[in-house]
Amino acid sequence: MTNTKILPFTDESIAEAARLILAGEPVAVPTETVYGLAADATNAEAVARIYDAKKRPSFNPLIVHVPDLAAARRIGQFDAQALALARRHWPGPLTLVVPLRKDANIASFVTAGLPTVGLRVPDHSAIQALLRACCRPLAAPSANASGSISPTRAAHVMKSLGGRILLVIDGGATVRGIESTIVAATGGPLRVLRRGPIEIDAAPASGTSIEAPGQLVSHYAPTKPLRLKARSAESDEYLIGFADIEGDANLSRAGDLVEAASRLFDLLHQADASSKARIAIAPVPDEGLGAAINDRLRRASAGRK
Ligand code: TXA
Ligand code: MG
Repeated sequence: MTNTKILPFTDESIAEAARLILAGEPVAVPTETVYGLAADATNAEAVARIYDAKKRPSFNPLIVHVPDLAAARRIGQFDAQALALARRHWPGPLTLVVPLRKDANIASFVTAGLPTVGLRVPDHSAIQALLRACCRPLAAPSANASGSISPTRAAHVMKSLGGRILLVIDGGATVRGIESTIVAATGGPLRVLRRGPIEIDAAPASGTSIEAPGQLVSHYAPTKPLRLKARSAESDEYLIGFADIEGDANLSRAGDLVEAASRLFDLLHQADASSKARIAIAPVPDEGLGAAINDRLRRASAGRK
């Protein structure tokens, strides 16, 4: 447990929030949709602390918040359709899922290993001030514990995450009250991935389809077979170690689950790209972030989606 400070939105509180974010701590901040739990999207361990605070049982790709379209275009590739939507609705409650640029400095943990990224330019002075103060893209899911409802007031955040994060910026009630509309613009027809405040008027003729979230997110999984709870490697296996089980790489020699989570997708990609035909991974304790790591590994070993 830690002492959670709640400060009104001022220049001073934003400066303090930016210091915490640059030190790798998540901070709760209002957007126009819901309060977000924001962390430096270039720092995988900082993003792993979001999951730790939320006690989230699985890893999903997170939305990356940026101050403007120019910043978004340094991270994602925008085709004509994506550009038109961005110009029309940003800043605002629209998230665009676009191909991730190769030179984007975003931790692979943020996109859960996917080659696409969800980007949003929020329309709220508090998160805008924070983005400009820390000069970093911010990954931010809703600032609530897993399974509870999305927070539209600082008091909701305190009730859900009090004692688990260091700072909540209080900017009053959010005006939209529900999470952003998510649209995928990854080539082919636009797809609405999550309905929200912005209605995307695309005729059925354009091939737009509504899919439930979770259904649509094709989660990253390695292309090679994956063996779990391995204590040593077979000759054709690339072993990802943990703690004192050494391998070709190690999730965390110290046995630190935040570090392990933050390195998970990088090491799976590394194992997938190695000369070995199969992947093995050492046992990870099923507690805290370990449960989310094991959830992801079980899905990855169960077959490709
Ligand atoms: O209103 C909002 O969007 C709030 C505020 C805080 O900005 N944020 C929010 O973020 O709801 P988050 O990280 O919880 O949204 C994650 C969802 C994923 O579950 C998935 O549906 C979609 O965004 N998403 C993000 N990146 C994606 C990707 N690369 N491919 C497919 N879906 C993605
Ligand atoms: Mg949520």
